[in-house]
Amino acid sequence: MAQKGGAERYAKYVNPQWVRLLDLLGMNVRYERCIGAELFPSTGGRILDFLSGFCVYNVGHNHPAIIAALKDELDKNGPLMLQSHVPELAGLVAERLCGLAGGSLARVFFTSSGSEGVETAIKFSRAYTKRNAILYCDGAFHGLTCGALSLMGDPFWKEGFGPMLQDTEAIPFNDLEALEKKLSSKKYASFIVEPIQSEGGIKLPEGDYLREAQRLCRRHGTLFVLDEVQTGMYRTGSFLAGQHYGAEPDMVILAKAMSGGLVPVGAVLMTQGICDSVYSSLKRAIIHASTFGENALAMRVVLATLDVLEGERLGEKSVTLGNALRQRIGEVLAPYEMFKEVRGLGMLSGIEWQSPKRLTLKVPFELFKRIHPGMFGQILVMHLFHEKEILTQICGNHFMMLKVAPPLIATPEQLDYFVRSIAETAEMIHTSGRFWADAIEMMGHAVTTGSI
Ligand SMILES: Cc1ncc(COP(=O)(O)O)c(C=O)c1O
Repeated sequence: MAQKGGAERYAKYVNPQWVRLLDLLGMNVRYERCIGAELFPSTGGRILDFLSGFCVYNVGHNHPAIIAALKDELDKNGPLMLQSHVPELAGLVAERLCGLAGGSLARVFFTSSGSEGVETAIKFSRAYTKRNAILYCDGAFHGLTCGALSLMGDPFWKEGFGPMLQDTEAIPFNDLEALEKKLSSKKYASFIVEPIQSEGGIKLPEGDYLREAQRLCRRHGTLFVLDEVQTGMYRTGSFLAGQHYGAEPDMVILAKAMSGGLVPVGAVLMTQGICDSVYSSLKRAIIHASTFGENALAMRVVLATLDVLEGERLGEKSVTLGNALRQRIGEVLAPYEMFKEVRGLGMLSGIEWQSPKRLTLKVPFELFKRIHPGMFGQILVMHLFHEKEILTQICGNHFMMLKVAPPLIATPEQLDYFVRSIAETAEMIHTSGRFWADAIEMMGHAVTTGSI
């Protein structure tokens, strides 16, 4: 399915290793059209998208109402990013986001990505508290710019990029004791945490973790910041995942699904006090800014995306479809020893796999794990792609977790198809040597092409 010309040029001028990786996995497909939850390769057929660009496509691909709004904005020939006027649409979007988020979130800074939102949260929390240190959780994924990367524990992401921000420290997720111990030093400007750790392995907050964390932060003068880049925009049912748990953060970082996947945009929602501490005088009116942040195209698609999410009641749909999906996955995978658990909230789910005990499975599993800990998960992703025409991925910081995040507009039939497909794949893993034979073939290919 690889497409030579365009891919070769990309490899030559952009990133050859990405093309090699996709080739190795047999996933170098050229997509001609993407509609709803379906991707259409130029070679024919249809692939079901159960990844949604890592939670970008909550409203599905190329939603017609959002495209219409975008075209309408373009047709106006207006000031899209003039930097010398008041971008009124940004006010409208901010009002709407704050209304949906509730609590004391009353101001918004617009960005072009999630990482930029994390950078903003770091700067603003430092300005507000006049403290430098930032606290984060083990297993977190906050982005790959230097500040955001300083809030990620796994050395893999940082290797070779020199010193990161000083004064950042990790604590285990769901550990209030560790949090309080750190906070009592009173040196932390903010505690930045994902309400549900996505790349960390769809880890849900236990009990009252988020509310207690918030209470402890308040007590010790540390800002409580939720990174909702993957979990926001109704992905888990409510507008923000934190709302399921009664959290009222001081700041919220949004991005990914904000614009229906059409124009890059992100936002940091915050209290008025935090905002005023940064823009504290006329001299500091543009002390923190971003060229593309409030551009009219992005603002217009955020409004259109919110209209679709609300008009099609995708939050409610996410809850009912997500619950049913997890229940069915749990039922069909229960007989298989490598299945550990399915968990999640709304339409953000993960299927966790575990090392097998049976010798015929254990030997190949351990062998591949020694070559690369992500090997099993990656072969699983490959199988689902080739045999079932379903696009998925394993979590970036948890290789035994298959992420299941279809667009919220996915139909019950598409979800049924996924359940049948994952059951058949589990059956094949446990009863036939083919899964492991394919892994050996991939290994051989990787060695002969010098990929590993
Ligand atoms: C939870 C979370 N925060 C931040 C980011 C960084 O977002 P971006 O890639 O838009 O910079 C990501 C990206 O996957 C993410 O998952």
